[in-house]
Order: sequence, then C-alpha cells, then structure tokens
Amino acid sequence: LFTAVELAPRDPILGLNEQYAADTNPKKVNLGVGVYFDENGKLPLLQAVQKAEAALQATPKARGYLPIDGLAAYDQAVKELVFGKDSEPVTSGRVATIQALGGTGGLKVGADFLRKLKPGAKVLISNPSWENHRAIFQNAGFEVGTYSYYDASRRGIDFDGLLADLKAAAEGTVVVLHACCHNPTGYDLTPAQWDQVIEVVKARQLTPFLDMAYQGFSQGLAEDGAVVGKFIAAGLDFLVSTSFSKSFSLYGERVGALSVVTKSKDEAARVLSQLKVTIRTNYSNPPTHGAAVVAYVLSTPELRALWEEELGQMRTRIKAMRQKLLDGLKAAGVQQDLSYITTQVGMFSYSGLSKEQMLRLRSEFGVYGTDSGRICVAALNENNVGYVAESIAKVL
Ligand code: LMR
Repeated sequence: LFTAVELAPRDPILGLNEQYAADTNPKKVNLGVGVYFDENGKLPLLQAVQKAEAALQATPKARGYLPIDGLAAYDQAVKELVFGKDSEPVTSGRVATIQALGGTGGLKVGADFLRKLKPGAKVLISNPSWENHRAIFQNAGFEVGTYSYYDASRRGIDFDGLLADLKAAAEGTVVVLHACCHNPTGYDLTPAQWDQVIEVVKARQLTPFLDMAYQGFSQGLAEDGAVVGKFIAAGLDFLVSTSFSKSFSLYGERVGALSVVTKSKDEAARVLSQLKVTIRTNYSNPPTHGAAVVAYVLSTPELRALWEEELGQMRTRIKAMRQKLLDGLKAAGVQQDLSYITTQVGMFSYSGLSKEQMLRLRSEFGVYGTDSGRICVAALNENNVGYVAESIAKVL
C-alpha cells in the first residue's frame, strides 16, 4: 500500500526544531520558529495565564464537547479585542467568529470556506510570505500567486509594485495581507499606504483575508490592530484570522480564531453555519483549556491589564535585543549598514543573508534561522546575542 509514498520535505520552519534538537553543539541557538523566549532563554508562562488557570482550577469543570464554533465567551472576547466592544459590526451582529486551532487553523477554515464559495478564485500572497500561506491555500485547492512586497535593493517595501499587482488582479481574487509584523520581513505598510491598498481592494472587488498573528508585538494592541478598523470603515466584507499563540505564550494550546465580517446579521448567521460544516468535517470541535484561559483573562479587568503589561514587556525586550544585535555586529567588525535590524518590527529580522550563509550559520555555529534568511530576534537574550552577532559576522 505504501511503497509509492514519497518522503515529504522537512517543514521549512517547524522542521528546524527537529534539526536543532538533534544538534550537539553546546552553543546552539534556535532562531528558527517564531517563538518568544524570555531573558533567561525560557518560554514564558505569563502571570496572567497562571492566575487565570488557578482561578479556573478553583472550580474544576468537566470537559464536555464545546460547540462546533467554540466557547461562546471566547468568541465574544475575540470579537471585542479585534473589532472593539462597541464597534458597529459587533453590536449589529454582522461578524461571524469561530474558535480555531491557532492562527493556522483560522486560515485553513477560511481557505476551505472560500474555496467552496468561490471555486474559480485565485489567491495572492505577499512575496515573500510566511512559508505556510502558500501551502494552506494550495491544499485547500486554490491556485496561489504572489504580489510584490519586499524590495531587497531598497531594504523596504516595493509599494508601487504591490499596488500594480493588486490592480492587475482579477475581480474576486483572495488577497492575503499581514495586518502587522509582516512575516518574514518585519516591514509593515504605513497607515497611508493601507488606505491606498484598501482603495484598490475596493475598486477591484478583491477579497481581503487578513492574517493577524502578532497583534501587540509592533507598537501596541490598538495600534497594531488599527488596520482592521480601516477595512471596516471602508465598508468591506473581509476575513481575519487571529492568534493568541504568541501574545499569550500559549503556543501549544492552539488558541486562534477566524472572524468573517459580513453585511448583515442574517448573512453572518449563514456564513457561521458554513464555517461550522467546515469545522465539523475536519476536527469536529475545538479544545477547551486554552480558550477558557484566554476568555477568563480578557474578561477580568485586572488580569487583562496584567496581560497587556506582560505583552508590553515582551515587545520592549524584543526591541532592546534588536539594538543589542546591531551593536554586537558592529563590535564584531561588520562595516555594512545593518540598521534595518532596528527598524523592522515584530518577532523577526529579515537578515538579507543568503541560503548558503544560513546553512553555514547552522552547520558551523549552531545558529538556526530559516533558509530565507529570517531570524527570530524574540529568541535573543543577553547570553546568546553576542555569540549570534559574532557568528553572523563570520558568515558575512
Ligand atoms: C513562524 O512563522 O515561525 C510561526 O508562525 C510559527 C509557525 O507555525 O510557522
């Protein structure tokens, strides 16, 4: 039965974890996957999460099946965080939100739903984009192309190219946009550029699908989420996949969501019914724990404040590590201008290193980033940043 099965290539991001685990280099540093580690190199268990877990544990609950679309209190908390409690789409009931298995799960449910709704549509992702975007939409049956995004020669966004590509897209094309902390480049559109993108999306009748996995890691929760408000103000129908993996450091709990902004309450109810069919025929219904914790934190004012403080600390420490890395590279004798490390935002720096240089970093120094040259600066700390800087200087 299985003799013809081919060996699939290792996942370009998560596959690095396996390679890293097998590496015997005592100085090894994992900057591959987008995970935040604290100043001691440890995965944090947030205080807000611990307090919520303790409170939930005080009145232990049996674990029945959740509804297909997830814990109602969680879905409501997502809506309020992403769109605003008193925002018109939320109060009028025209947003359909489902609990998803991480941001990836939200993208997948959305992709399956759109494929049934618009079987002839194409999908455009940014060039470059998160490695899994193409795979998710292709596996849902879509043909996936790209729109211009990163201009290596300018170390920034090729905005003219981006607009031109969106203008040339056929009506109904699904456009996957990174709401903040662009993965992998760390370059975000300015508010004025977003306005122009939205104008084209509207004029060309494209279908926007926002991916917001890193809300709070650039400027702050409100600032990073402002793009969502722009799409609402433009009167567009759109999808947005969100995640608490990074912002709550709850990677393994798979707490994400998909929200679909529709024209009316009635439309939202019909969309929700279809999302439920997609979920039921994939994994039936989502798990309880992570959603219960997030819902508890977001609906308890003092825990919500504590969470925002802890998220702010992660954001501030990442920025400090960007500066340390830059200082370390200069101290290691690198002459070229690498100031982009401190202007990029979010968890990643798109280092500009070639695949060969990234492979050398791995094999000679045990420093793991993706082949594309992306390194997770959120995994740097006082103990490893100097070594990482020296290693990068050597391969440069
Ligand atoms: C990443 O880009 O490293 C993260 O989003 C984790 C993942 O699932 O790839």
